[in-house]
Amino acid sequence: MGSLARRRPAPMAVLLLAAAAAEAAEPTLSPPRWQRLATGQVRPEGWLRKQMQLQAEALTSHLPLFWPNIANTSWLGGNSDVDGGLHENTPYWLNGAVPLALQLQDTNLLALVESYMNGIITRQGKDGWLGPDTDRSDIWSRIPFMMALAQYHESLPQGAGRLRCESVAYRFFDALTRRLDEGVTLQTWSSMRIHDLIWSVHYFVDALPPGSHLAKWMLDLAARLHREGFNWNEGWFNSSSFATRPVLDPATMETHGVNNAQAVKRGAVWARQSGDFALGFAESWLAWSQLRRFHGQPSGAFSADEHLGGRLPSRGTELCTVVESMWSLLLTAQMAPTDQEALKALDAVEALAFNALPGSLSDDLWSHPYLQMANSYQALFGEDVHVWVHDGPNAAMYGLEPNYPCCTSNFHQGYPKFASSLFFEEEENRLISAIWAPSKVRSSVAEVELRTEYPFDTSLEYWVQNAEPFVLKVRLPLFLREAPESLRVWLHEDVVQSAADGFLLFHISAASTKSRLAARLSWAAKARVQSSPQQGASVYVGPLLMALDLKETRTKRDQLAFSAANWDTRASLPWQMALPRQPQLDPVVWSSIGPRPFQRGRCPLSVSARLAPLTIEQWPVLSNAPGPVLPVEEDLLEVERTLVPYACTSIRISAFPVAQPNTLLA
Ligand SMILES: *[C@@H]1O[C@H](CO)[C@@H](O)[C@H](O)[C@H]1NC(C)=O
Ligand SMILES: *[C@@H]1O[C@H](CO)[C@@H](O)[C@H](O)[C@H]1NC(C)=O
Repeated sequence: MGSLARRRPAPMAVLLLAAAAAEAAEPTLSPPRWQRLATGQVRPEGWLRKQMQLQAEALTSHLPLFWPNIANTSWLGGNSDVDGGLHENTPYWLNGAVPLALQLQDTNLLALVESYMNGIITRQGKDGWLGPDTDRSDIWSRIPFMMALAQYHESLPQGAGRLRCESVAYRFFDALTRRLDEGVTLQTWSSMRIHDLIWSVHYFVDALPPGSHLAKWMLDLAARLHREGFNWNEGWFNSSSFATRPVLDPATMETHGVNNAQAVKRGAVWARQSGDFALGFAESWLAWSQLRRFHGQPSGAFSADEHLGGRLPSRGTELCTVVESMWSLLLTAQMAPTDQEALKALDAVEALAFNALPGSLSDDLWSHPYLQMANSYQALFGEDVHVWVHDGPNAAMYGLEPNYPCCTSNFHQGYPKFASSLFFEEEENRLISAIWAPSKVRSSVAEVELRTEYPFDTSLEYWVQNAEPFVLKVRLPLFLREAPESLRVWLHEDVVQSAADGFLLFHISAASTKSRLAARLSWAAKARVQSSPQQGASVYVGPLLMALDLKETRTKRDQLAFSAANWDTRASLPWQMALPRQPQLDPVVWSSIGPRPFQRGRCPLSVSARLAPLTIEQWPVLSNAPGPVLPVEEDLLEVERTLVPYACTSIRISAFPVAQPNTLLA
């Protein structure tokens, strides 16, 4: 490690630096307005811990035991994880498994991820390159690895382990610089997804001691990656070529769903280096708004059954697109120039975290579909006639690796990165409770426990322990900002409340060594309806999208290793139902959370609804899926059916046709 300072920067880089320095001012990195807490500082509790523990015990800890892409990975000298020369599965898995192990302090998983991280670090090339080196232009798969390394580093105490990670990172960035100097260019995936790597470069710049001569060299590398990577803002999101319709042909790198999800962070990430957080947010938010406007789905995601798919609720969204959207939006919130802008990005994350993410995972976390849909009545192996356009016949099936293996390895980051971002810190001794979920945080400002089962709950408590006075700044979720009259706040006698747009500020005086109840919030959660011309009506309770319970049944097609299996899922109740224009949706029934928070058939929340059954003529089938959602005639018979959270179903109807009086249809 001691040789690092002597070896960096490499001679070639020095020459380039000298040339660049003549024209460019010293690059700097501005701190984000909100500080991220280190991985492991926020610990999940309640239902979130159950869900993350299920994940840890299912695929996250078992893939290394039986799935060749990780068990025999080329990153540790094996002959697997080489699909299409991508080598992405092991880094994808580590990008989620590392923070998951740290947040749960799961000893089994910690030992596993440490053996992988150690093995990969030990194999770092003499030139500093990381991972299998069969194609000099294959940069992409290093990008998720560097994010895993950053999260790993973040959790370590000051000392040798931390310095070792830094040395690995600086040597890798040096190797990358040399390759770029030698004429290697950013191709396809690397070019489209480069801002994830720039985030890691910035992360390791922050880790440098003040005044380090490495900072300028690394920021120059970041600037070069930014310049040489695809300009998503000008070339896509803010251009007339952006896809405002479902993509047919030609499908390109720009129309690819996961690329779009990753690209949302471009403006936000670059803002730290440009210093213009307003512009950075404008770019990121424009990207997300375009995706939602033309391809948005009721679950909070956008459709991309490989390529952008429009707003038909039967079109699919890839699981990778969901977790990548969440990560991009979390960064967008953190880097937002004002609280008001942060709120927008957090609202978007919340919708994804409570709907689209669990809605694309089986309740035991052993299987997933490649594509989830807002409306579907079956998810089968080998659907040769299907409504999605660019993926294969198994894309809707729940299984180990339906359609492609990427989501099997990439979904792991969803919950851990979400949990890491439940709290942030801000200047003036402020701790921000950004999204509600049961958790405990140990920050430099205070120790806070958020006791709740939200979103399966209508109250929460903040228990605090703090040596110094501090401000707890609590974001209100969108549904409460829209209906603040239902909110009740109880405060401990030494807590003073002030309001800021969209947030509650609790000024908490210094208190004993004992944790005490500082604030209790409660609210009413009524079912609400949101409508749009393309997607009819959807029902929400708080942040939860509700879906028609089809009493799904699943049959096992293939038993794989351990509890992994492929499943066919079918509906046993009719799906062709319309929502009356004046729907009767109460009452909301709450029950306790079982060992699987999103257990099919045993969900903590349900709503009984009177719905209007439709005929096949009124709502036709389109390529084995529900056809477009169009208004239908009222004065239909009504039946009682149950709505449950979208994520408590594997197949469902969540975008309903609305029954209109005859005169409105004429
Ligand atoms: C890993 O590779 C070895 C040697 O080729 C093989 O025997 C073993 O079955 C492989 N393991 C998995 C999980 O694929
Ligand atoms: C998008 O382009 C328009 C017109 O060229 C410009 O006014 C606007 O600032 C751009 N927005 C972003 C976020 O770059």
